[in-house]
Amino acid sequence: MSERIQPVKGTHDILPEEQGVWGRVRAAATSILPLYGFREITTPMFESAELFERSVGAATDIVEKEMYTFADSKERRIALRPEGTAGVVRACVHHGRVRAQPLDKLYYLGPMFRRERPQKGRFRQFHQLGVEVIGESSATLDVEVIALLARLLAACGVARVELQINSVGCPICRPAYRAALVAALAPRATELCDDCQRRLTTNPLRLLDCKVPTCGAVTAGAPELIHHLCDACRDHLATVERGLTELGIAYTVNPRLVRGLDYYTRTAFEAIAAGLGAQAAVAAGGRYDGLVEELGGPPTPAIGFAIGLERLVTLMDGGGEVPPLPLFVAPLGEAARLFALKLVEELRGGGVAVEMDHAGRSLKAQLKRADRLQARRAVILGDDELAAGEATVRDLATHNQERQPLAGLAARLIAEERP
Ligand code: HAM
Repeated sequence: MSERIQPVKGTHDILPEEQGVWGRVRAAATSILPLYGFREITTPMFESAELFERSVGAATDIVEKEMYTFADSKERRIALRPEGTAGVVRACVHHGRVRAQPLDKLYYLGPMFRRERPQKGRFRQFHQLGVEVIGESSATLDVEVIALLARLLAACGVARVELQINSVGCPICRPAYRAALVAALAPRATELCDDCQRRLTTNPLRLLDCKVPTCGAVTAGAPELIHHLCDACRDHLATVERGLTELGIAYTVNPRLVRGLDYYTRTAFEAIAAGLGAQAAVAAGGRYDGLVEELGGPPTPAIGFAIGLERLVTLMDGGGEVPPLPLFVAPLGEAARLFALKLVEELRGGGVAVEMDHAGRSLKAQLKRADRLQARRAVILGDDELAAGEATVRDLATHNQERQPLAGLAARLIAEERP
């Protein structure tokens, strides 16, 4: 035997047994999202690397370390998308949608790629269900978007989630906060990990999110952005909090929630689920009021979130059960098999799911297979039956059986199965 080819590290297959639960996620999305006015958009899985450098940010872990980037034959730098927001905004700007439709509500479902260290709940190819609302700055929209996230998670049966929110400020208040943070941490720079020493100049807010314990100790008493917000950002957060309370959506304010992508402004949020281990965020998002303009569009506020589907499905009940099969056709002998072939095609043409044996197995072996497929009835075509122009139709639960004429058999079975 040849050596097996291993899957690429951090990738996974979604097997037929697991498709049921993924289907339930898709069904929840397609039933709930239109209630909020969302329409689907599909953007390419690869884009110019510059798109993510300009949006997610050149000094983020995603762009610095995790992007799958390659040069195509014309030496253009291409990246597999690490997330969906940048592509959606690029598409809206490209197609002039930002002007044409003041409020664009879009959703997408597809694979994303990040070269992270694989572990439970963290993959190199993973899937997101994301939503983006482009064209509105009001804080009540933030509440509506968070309510949508809560409804989607509830529809998937995921109830034990903690919603954490924060404000990451805006270009008016963030620079002064950043300076205050750097001033507070710079004297202890040597105690920080190598990455954080670099972040101190490139992206100091990310220090608050570092998982290295010594960095956590250094940043424990650091100033918090929530206490340095400008009036407009403070009002915005207060309205979001009031709205969530009004809708009865439980939340906690986490002043250290900073998010790993640079485009966020004001509201940032994460849904943290019990039972996910270290990778506990099942969904995350926030407002990104500067991104449309950053990508060449007119100044346009926006907000969105993405649910990590691998994490979501681990929180859902398996649901991988095989649907029962109405009929199994068991031919015995070559002539019967040819007849069976015609019969199953006629049955499928009539909308009835059916399987047959092709291997010339014994009746006992065929009925065992029918059992495994959870077939309700078997149509047995033996030499005796064929000679008599009949088939035996057996109920596999009660073992009751009757002989039926072959003439008109398909039509009768279709009528019985699909009355
Ligand atoms: P994100 O926080 O990078 O945000 O990812 C959103 C979710 O995707 C995470 O909460 C997690 O559930 C899942 N996820 C991220 N990385 C992985 C991974 N390596 N393996 C498995 N699951 C993962 C964004 O991507 C933003 N684009 C969300 C957004 C949309 N913000 C505004 N609009």
